[in-house]
Amino acid sequence: MDHMIRYRQTTKYQFMDKNARFAFSLFAALFFLSCETKLSSPEMPTEWSEYLGGPDRNHYSSLSQINLKNVRKLQRAWEYKSGDSGQVQCNPIIVKGILYAVTASNQVFALDAATGLEKWRYRQPGEPTSNANRGVTYWEEGNDKRILYAYNSDLWALNAETGQPIISFGNGGKVSLKVGLEPAAKEQYVISTTPGTLFEDLIVMPIRVGEGYGAAIGYVQAFNVKTGKIVWVFKTLPDPGEPGADTWPADVKAKGDVGAVNSWAGMAVDRKREMIFIPTGSAAFDFYGGDRLGANLYANCLIALNVRTGKYLWHYQFVHHDIWDKDVPAPPNLIKVKHNGTVIDAVAQVTKQGMVFLFNRDTGVPIFPIKEQSFPASKLPGERTWPTQPIPVLPAPFSRQTVTVNEISSIAGNREELISIFRKSEKGLFQPLGLTPTVVLPGADGGAEWGGAAVDPDGILYVNSNEMPWLFSLSLTPKENKESSLSMGNVLYNNTCVTCHGIELKGNPASGFPSLVNIKAKHSRKEVTRLISSGKGMMPGFSSLTSIQKQTIVDFLFHEEKTEAPNAVTGSTTIKSAGRPYQFDGYNKFLDNNGYPAISPPWGTLTAIDMNTGKHLWQKTLGELKELTAKGIPPTGTENYGGPVVTAGGLLFIAATKDGMLRAFDKRTGTLLWDTELPAAGYATPSTYQVNGKQYVVVACGGAKLGTKKGDSYVAFALK
Ligand code: HEC
Repeated sequence: MDHMIRYRQTTKYQFMDKNARFAFSLFAALFFLSCETKLSSPEMPTEWSEYLGGPDRNHYSSLSQINLKNVRKLQRAWEYKSGDSGQVQCNPIIVKGILYAVTASNQVFALDAATGLEKWRYRQPGEPTSNANRGVTYWEEGNDKRILYAYNSDLWALNAETGQPIISFGNGGKVSLKVGLEPAAKEQYVISTTPGTLFEDLIVMPIRVGEGYGAAIGYVQAFNVKTGKIVWVFKTLPDPGEPGADTWPADVKAKGDVGAVNSWAGMAVDRKREMIFIPTGSAAFDFYGGDRLGANLYANCLIALNVRTGKYLWHYQFVHHDIWDKDVPAPPNLIKVKHNGTVIDAVAQVTKQGMVFLFNRDTGVPIFPIKEQSFPASKLPGERTWPTQPIPVLPAPFSRQTVTVNEISSIAGNREELISIFRKSEKGLFQPLGLTPTVVLPGADGGAEWGGAAVDPDGILYVNSNEMPWLFSLSLTPKENKESSLSMGNVLYNNTCVTCHGIELKGNPASGFPSLVNIKAKHSRKEVTRLISSGKGMMPGFSSLTSIQKQTIVDFLFHEEKTEAPNAVTGSTTIKSAGRPYQFDGYNKFLDNNGYPAISPPWGTLTAIDMNTGKHLWQKTLGELKELTAKGIPPTGTENYGGPVVTAGGLLFIAATKDGMLRAFDKRTGTLLWDTELPAAGYATPSTYQVNGKQYVVVACGGAKLGTKKGDSYVAFALK
């Protein structure tokens, strides 16, 4: 089967004029109709059969029934309520009139895409998980139709018609996502939050691992879709002697402290070239790199591999020796641009830093110049920041890169206090973290986030972005020895939990990290133990902790500590903190006393960039806080998660905002044409498709992030 047809077709005719395009489409349609069924389906141009709309991950649809003229008449067509509410980041796929997606607790379901009526639903036995899952992958050959999706540490194959596991796949329907990793991974936290990428009978899987010391190393693995057998592995942290190994200390793997370097955000594939494009995250521990001196390849890269063999082709590194957690957050976009009169097959990558980079797809050579710019060195003993970082000359960044004291929010009730914090803090692009707080802008979640960018066939890239400053600092790790007054539970807590829940257990609820003070009143020991093992939402699981260690942490949280710490805990080799000098003080957003960002709006934006010229076409504020508008403050924009969709109907659809709206913009001008309130905020990328002659736009509405209410719906809109 061939998923590439639609996208080859799209890219081929993008520079033709309208009439030529129409004639070409007619010709192409006739041609494809005449192909054997296996070739022409399931990739009907009217559907959305792969994550983010296709293998190019361009969030683009050639549908135009809903268009500039009639979008104001859009109405709710159906709503599917799954019953289990909570954050859903899923971008549903629609194949042959069936919509496949997941619920908040990661149950897979199939709906009639025209009515929203459920066809089947598959719930794994045992306790439900609630890790983010951005969707599923559809594969077929003849009558063999499969849904591939990740649940906990496994990749599963379900029968797409019945929703039941395909027993002949792997081990009774599943294969472990740890098989191609280092042996230590068996005890480590490994899941997948983003759908795999197909090439013929291969599925290449993104994985999520821990971010602390002793996290698994996140190699890229390709599995056979029919058998579940692993076919190739690309080592994102090279073995000694391999190219790139010299960008790490020689013993880094043997020591086992450094991990991650994983690709979690999803990939794009050029099936004609047999090339896959893989973005990677930072190395762990995220915020101190004294034990991983060097540029750290292939962390924070875009890597191009031969998708059939896993063989390395080229790479580009966006952050050298990352100590800010600047993972590449979204799949790249495979686009065509016209540059100096030549049409180039290119690959564009948006970053958390709010930049967009553009490369020749074949060679990895930048299309616009990129400068290696000098940045300040770290003052922390043991740390050695890389002297330079790459900054594209074009396009200009789509997020503010720094702020001055004049940009401290004028609507803050405690402006003077914020100014004083700001004055005392370090700031600036790629400012190394230290013991004094550093204002990190764009923040920990970008800039661009996992929603990524949409691109239309004209080479215009549309990206939503956050403008949220964070305050990061490090502190000296308390010594975990006899002289220390800390209990063993407290030491374990400091090693594994403090990053997010804080030294005093207060977390940072405003930033999305709950307080664990008196957690006893809310959860049983059993529930907390399970949470530590499996993780939840943005909290990773800690499967490498032994059950005694988990109990010791729970003892500490529940104030039920015994005076003598059991030796099994002290003797454990899984506490990866020996010699680690600094700990991270927490993911703190820099907020005012009302919980708004401490800097002046906009706090969320939507930008259109012409990738042919590198010029911005427009930028709009995205999102509105009604309570501020009511006070006469112009719309401020809000934090936003989930990406846009662009269509041949001239529209851009996006939910993503904290205000719980779905909006449609004129893609040429950024003018808002239509909006509607969703049952709960849609922190997910919409999909659009046509069934029985009618075009729909559908989005998952799980809410539950940024303090918004929970939801359990998928809602579809259409013209009446
Ligand atoms: C990378 C950040 C991170 C780390 C590290 C982390 N957590 Fe969490 N934790 C979170 C987030 C985010 C939530 C909220 C999850 C949700 O509800 O979606 C959470 C939720 C929890 C909850 C439930 C709180 C409630 O109000 O229901 C408990 C209990 C908890 N964490 C304990 C721990 C323990 C114990 C550790 C260390 C072993 C730990 N966490 C490490 C981020 C983290």
